[in-house]
Amino acid sequence: MLFAAQLLQLSGQDPVASGGHRDVYACPGQSHLLIKVTRPRKRPNRSYTKRLIRRLLPDSVYRNAIKEIECEMKAALKSGTEIARMPLARCFGIVQTDIGPGIVVERIASDDGGLADHLSTLCKQGPLGADLLAALNSFAKNLFRLQIVARDIHESNIVYGLRNQARMFILIDGYGERNLVPLRTLSRSLNDRSLNKQMDGIAERVGLIWDAQNREFRAA
Ligand SMILES: Nc1ncnc2c1ncn2[C@@H]1O[C@H](COP(=O)(O)OP(=O)(O)O)[C@@H](O)[C@H]1O
Ligand SMILES: [Mg+2]
Repeated sequence: MLFAAQLLQLSGQDPVASGGHRDVYACPGQSHLLIKVTRPRKRPNRSYTKRLIRRLLPDSVYRNAIKEIECEMKAALKSGTEIARMPLARCFGIVQTDIGPGIVVERIASDDGGLADHLSTLCKQGPLGADLLAALNSFAKNLFRLQIVARDIHESNIVYGLRNQARMFILIDGYGERNLVPLRTLSRSLNDRSLNKQMDGIAERVGLIWDAQNREFRAA
C-alpha cells in the first residue's frame, strides 16, 4: 500500500519550498511525490465575516483544499487516455503528518532533478524559444479543453519540468472553484472568459501577447 493509515513525520525535515500559505515537503520514501502542509496562521483573521464563518462552519477551514482536490480529480477523470497531458500536477489525496494534514502531489522535477522552474523564472532569462512557446500553448489549450476552473493562474504557479521524461508546463497551485455559487463550473463561456483574462495577465507580465481568438501566446 502506498500510504497505510499512518502519521508521517515531517517535523524533523526542512521544507523543499514554501509558498504564501503552504510549506512543501519531500514525501518520506516516495521521491516522486511532495506533501503540501498549510502553515498555521500567525495572527487571527482580520476579517470579522471570515472569523464568523469559521466559528459557525468549522469545516470551512478545509474548503480550499477540497476545492483544489476536486478540480484535479475532475480533470483526471475527464482526461481518459490523455492523462499524461494533464495540465495540473496530479494529486493523490490527504495524509496526516505530525505538523498537520497534508496534500500529496506529483513532484514536477527539472532536468537536474531539482524542483521544476517557474514560468516567471524562465521568462526572466530572456524571450521563450519556439519549443517553450509551443509547450506553453499546449498547456493553455489543455486548460481550456478540460475547462479547468482557476482563480490564480500566475507565472509563479506554472512550472516547466518533466513528466514521464516529457518536458511540459504544469499548473501547481491556484485552481479550484471557490465561489459559493459555482458560476464558472456551470458556464463554460464564463470560465473561458476568466481563463482568457488570466492568460492575458500572464502575457502582459512576462512580455508575451495573448491571442484570445486562437487561444495562444505569441512572442511580442
Ligand atoms: N507539484 C509540484 N512540483 C514541483 N514543485 C512544486 C509543486 N507544488 C509546489 N511546488 C513548489 O512549491 C512552491 C509553493 O507551493 P504552492 O502550492 O504554490 O504553495 P502556496 O499554496 O503556499 O502558494 C511552488 O512555488 C513551487 O516552487
Ligand atoms: Mg503558490
